[in-house]
Amino acid sequence: MLRNMTPAPGVDRRVFVKGAAVATAALAVPLRGFDAAVAAAPAHRGVFGYGVASGDPTADSVILWTRATPPARKGEPVAAPGSGHGRRLTVTWQVSTDPHFRRVVRRGHTTASAASDHTVKVDVTGLSPYTVYWYRFRALGVHSPVGRTQTAGDEPGRTHALRFALASCSNYTGGWFSAYRAIARRDDLDFVLHVGDYIYEYGNGIDRYGPPELVGVRDGHPATETIDLQGYRLRHALHKADPDQQAAHARLPWITIFDDHEVANNAWAGGAENHQPGEGDFLQRRQEALQAYLEWMPFRLPDQQTPHQGTQFFKKFTFGDLGDLSVLETRQNRSQQVSPPGGPDVTGFVPLGIPQIDAALADPSRHLAEPEQLQWLKDTVATTGRPWHLLGNQVMIAPFRIPGAVFGSPVDLVNGDAWDGYGADQVDFLTHLAHQPAEAGDTVFLTGDIHSSWAADLPSDPHAAADYQSAGVEFVTPSVTSDGFYELSATVVPPGTPPENRVALVNGVVAQIQGLNPWTKYLDGIGHGFLVVDVTPARVQVDYFHTPTPTSALPEPRANRHIVPTYTTSMQTVAGTRSVSPATGPIGTRSDLPRGH
Ligand SMILES: [Fe+2]
Repeated sequence: MLRNMTPAPGVDRRVFVKGAAVATAALAVPLRGFDAAVAAAPAHRGVFGYGVASGDPTADSVILWTRATPPARKGEPVAAPGSGHGRRLTVTWQVSTDPHFRRVVRRGHTTASAASDHTVKVDVTGLSPYTVYWYRFRALGVHSPVGRTQTAGDEPGRTHALRFALASCSNYTGGWFSAYRAIARRDDLDFVLHVGDYIYEYGNGIDRYGPPELVGVRDGHPATETIDLQGYRLRHALHKADPDQQAAHARLPWITIFDDHEVANNAWAGGAENHQPGEGDFLQRRQEALQAYLEWMPFRLPDQQTPHQGTQFFKKFTFGDLGDLSVLETRQNRSQQVSPPGGPDVTGFVPLGIPQIDAALADPSRHLAEPEQLQWLKDTVATTGRPWHLLGNQVMIAPFRIPGAVFGSPVDLVNGDAWDGYGADQVDFLTHLAHQPAEAGDTVFLTGDIHSSWAADLPSDPHAAADYQSAGVEFVTPSVTSDGFYELSATVVPPGTPPENRVALVNGVVAQIQGLNPWTKYLDGIGHGFLVVDVTPARVQVDYFHTPTPTSALPEPRANRHIVPTYTTSMQTVAGTRSVSPATGPIGTRSDLPRGH
């Protein structure tokens, strides 16, 4: 969400882009479809030009990933991603407890072929818990870069340190992936949790999304909107060719889940805001998008034997006696978003106080996810034995009323794409949370999507006011690069308004939002970056890492490749309080390190 603001009257939503400067600059880029030369460029970096990755670590297993590109023989086309070209390759792999592969503990081989776009995934089992491993692939006598990964600190009766990065919303044309660079440089993290919008579907034309400074510098590939298997494969390949993205994947295992933009903006079970009839059948498009996701991400599909609506993507990780991490999937089966009266929705925000809108938002037959998953989630947070239930969640669950004045509306609005848009599920879950006894532990939502940084209590009654009771907490990571409140402010001020004035405007809006939503203990609408989440039996602390505030001297930090997000502030929730409080300073050293660190 958070793609567009309201277009001027008469402007079609498909051709509306934020600000004439962006549109003009973007139009200078010729529209192309599949460009084999561009697609093949990383493939020419060698057999393993897309790097290596690992993911979904458990106590004894981890997924290893790479793409093995067969070099073209004379007269053959390059086996570029999405091309369908290229012969089969045998790919061997090794896992070692040292980076020089003197102590190889697992090895095997697999095949790369055009059927999986020459990506390979290995689910390595039989590993030891809470242990650092090194891995590499080999094909045609060539070794891949060496990757480092780690199994989960999940040993019964043990409490290990647990610390990871939280990220979301990494639009390639939105900026340099310096947040990933910063993550890759750390040596104290167990994994990266990416809660969605790992890629965006937009093209380089009038739908381009990001600062005009990066036109021609950091363009999307393919150049047009991704709508089919070839397009999504190319877009994933673009990300895997990015050096910062590669570094973060090679350094740490990732736990990921898709949100809407891995398919199309504001997707629901039967369509998406950014899916038009001329783009073919939506379910076919989604199937192709998710095929590319599963090919190109180090993602382990959970066991599919339990009857379920569609493919089950949601899953749970456990960490000894400390906690569990449940990763939700809220796109595949969600009901259609509520639209404002009088026409198609552009912003995703719907006005409150209109009887048919209020009724639709609260309709118990509308769901954010299928009932089986919502019940699984309720069972999870009711489980005793561990102090923390962490939930990797795509869209905000904390109630977020947007002051009408922000949009020139006489009434307040809500984001119809978030849990607020599925009020019955929201009320049902928060009520359930509030009824859990102390032995069930505390619940922490870890969320992205909204391109801004939050720490919020979760009121047991979303319609309560300042006297609310808190049932849990939510921490929201800013976008890696995607436009946030600050960038959107450009659409409501005269061209040339100094960054300082826009910062003041956004901070004023943030103050209004906090006034209307008193459970919001921290909100930043300016910085891009990531969070570091540190879990101990006593508390969950979150450190915020942000790009600098834009100034006249540095108006667009996202476009400067040398600028890396830095620490700004910390928030926490103390065990048993089920509410947010300020932390005294950044997290310190880990209580213990994994074996082989
Ligand atoms: Fe996003």
